[in-house]
Amino acid sequence: MTGKKTFYITTPIYYPSNKLHIGNSYTTVAADAIARYKRLSGYDVWFLTGTDEHGQKIQRQANEVRKKPKEFIDPIVDWIKELWAELDISYDDFIRTTEPRHEEKVAKIFERLYQQGDIYKGKYEGWYCTPCEAFWQERQLVDNCCPDCGRKVELVAEEAYFFRMSRYASRLMEYIEQHPEFIQPESRKNEMINNFLKPGLEDLCVSRTSFDWGIKVPFDEKHVIYVWLDALTNYITALGYGEPGSLYERYWPADVHLIGKDILRFHTIYWPIFLMALGEPLPRQVFGHGWLLLQEGKMSKSKGNVVDPRVLISRYGSDAIRYFLLREIPFGQDGTFSLELLIQRINTDLANELGNLVSRTVTMVERYFDGILPVPAGEEEPSDRELRELALDTPARVEKAMEDLQLSNALFELWKLVKRSNKYIDDNTPWALAKSETGRLRLATVMYNLVESIRFIGVMLQPYMPRTPQRIWEQIGIADRSDLHSFASLTRWGMIEPGVTVKRGEDLFPRLNLLHELRRDQLPEVDAREREEGKEEGLITLDQFHQVDLRVATIVSAQRIEGADRLLLLKVDLGEKTERQVVAGLARYYRPEELVGAQVLFVANLKPVKLRGHLSQGMLLAAIDEDGTPVLTTVGRAVRAGSRVS
Ligand code: MSP
Repeated sequence: MTGKKTFYITTPIYYPSNKLHIGNSYTTVAADAIARYKRLSGYDVWFLTGTDEHGQKIQRQANEVRKKPKEFIDPIVDWIKELWAELDISYDDFIRTTEPRHEEKVAKIFERLYQQGDIYKGKYEGWYCTPCEAFWQERQLVDNCCPDCGRKVELVAEEAYFFRMSRYASRLMEYIEQHPEFIQPESRKNEMINNFLKPGLEDLCVSRTSFDWGIKVPFDEKHVIYVWLDALTNYITALGYGEPGSLYERYWPADVHLIGKDILRFHTIYWPIFLMALGEPLPRQVFGHGWLLLQEGKMSKSKGNVVDPRVLISRYGSDAIRYFLLREIPFGQDGTFSLELLIQRINTDLANELGNLVSRTVTMVERYFDGILPVPAGEEEPSDRELRELALDTPARVEKAMEDLQLSNALFELWKLVKRSNKYIDDNTPWALAKSETGRLRLATVMYNLVESIRFIGVMLQPYMPRTPQRIWEQIGIADRSDLHSFASLTRWGMIEPGVTVKRGEDLFPRLNLLHELRRDQLPEVDAREREEGKEEGLITLDQFHQVDLRVATIVSAQRIEGADRLLLLKVDLGEKTERQVVAGLARYYRPEELVGAQVLFVANLKPVKLRGHLSQGMLLAAIDEDGTPVLTTVGRAVRAGSRVS
């Protein structure tokens, strides 16, 4: 026993029917950020995740590939665990519903509920949606399909066990009304009350006989326990429910079940009722977050690379992916994922704002003070006070956002300090101060304040981006000073000691070229591997160079692409019968009219790709300036369109 306040948070347990996509990762990353935040705030945290391994859907999928269900899911579960490791998910326990510690308890719970009359045997007639593992009455169907996912349902009629939901409906309604924080966000609460509780709760079918991949009803083995009764109880079986001295006694009731809005009904109606029947306290809060959608609509596991979280992590790093997920999606609402939005966040928030702040500051301490953090000198000026006050204020603002599970707002608050720190540099113009002796005294204060502000930012970043703070500590010379990494060290300004060694490291987040990234995404992974292998050797032969058909293209027309504020659609003349069409990421840098007539170096034998729905048949070459601006490469004098370049 630690005497600390406990905090128990869970994610849904995922179906290992397929690899997870970036949408599923969202719930887990959000739960991880909350768990880390609470740990850093001094709570004794238990963070549970896992996999939901039984049910008809998994059995069918395994059959299709002629495998036993367990054989089929084991590699997927391993893949999921690897994904969580790559995303730095700091779970304390991972429960698989096929583990004996879970199966044995579920069987006991079922038996007990049967003995006390909550479960009875009857006959089931109704509609079953296999992908959702959900039963529906005819009147609930929408156009004869599942009201949740819109897919086909099957008519089933079989002997089954039922749970007497009606027994507890009014108690649950009362509980929800008396505990306004129980279902969050608020809007979802009304949905549950109006759509499910008010019309009257039907008894719930809690066993099946038409398949056998599940936990058997202990006293009637031709039945398996309904997968949601099996799944939901993971939140207590993982804690060793029913065993004296178990984690259950320490952590239950859960502080937050974090879930997607699609499974709210199971968590706010069935789960509390099962718990009431067991005489156990209800979770304090169920938070149903919104969905991460693709621009073209719903995310599905078959949509390819862009939604494969492990491909994204290997390209952009887990901290960037975590940041994107947590920042881009207003918590509780739906958000959009696209490669463009991701690159934009990386370039703006992470490279330009955070990365630049750190690299500019450490470079200046190296240049002006030989890398030794100077002692601040002189009176506090208004810009110093503003920075200090904002830094000291930010932890409370972040805390408020975190209490409400508004993770995106928490980052928004933190970024105000990042932006303010950058502005502090611009306001104080250190390069001008460096020019005089009196200026240098002031410069010492400016540098000290910047490094202290960066320390504040690093400390507060930890829950969201677990890797970046360490890289910041190294650059500002406090890697081994854990006392300066704690939340407690944010109560006072000026904790970092003058004299520490500041040393510029690699850029935290190098800027990315959007077009390059979009192109990369169009290429099959094997191409990417081949390109990587070639890169390792570093040299190419003349033959290889000549494989690139370089030409001079004359730009004939240029226009913006609606809905893609970075892209231009160009027509170019290559001296061929017809003009070529090209999509170029130039809209931020060139006005369409100024491009017409320009002659630009051009790669003419690139495999055509579709970018944002437009065919692109080649690539304009540009030099990339220091700050990432593309500058088109032209020729010294006008030449014939299509001239070869070698
Ligand atoms: N096995 C059940 C949960 C049982 S919990 C006792 C299940 N599994 S799931 O793998 O289908 O989904 C897990 C979670 O991923 C759900 O919370 C679901 O809302 C979430 N998401 C699935 N697609 C998503 C997005 N595109 N965006 C955000 N969350 C998404 O349901």
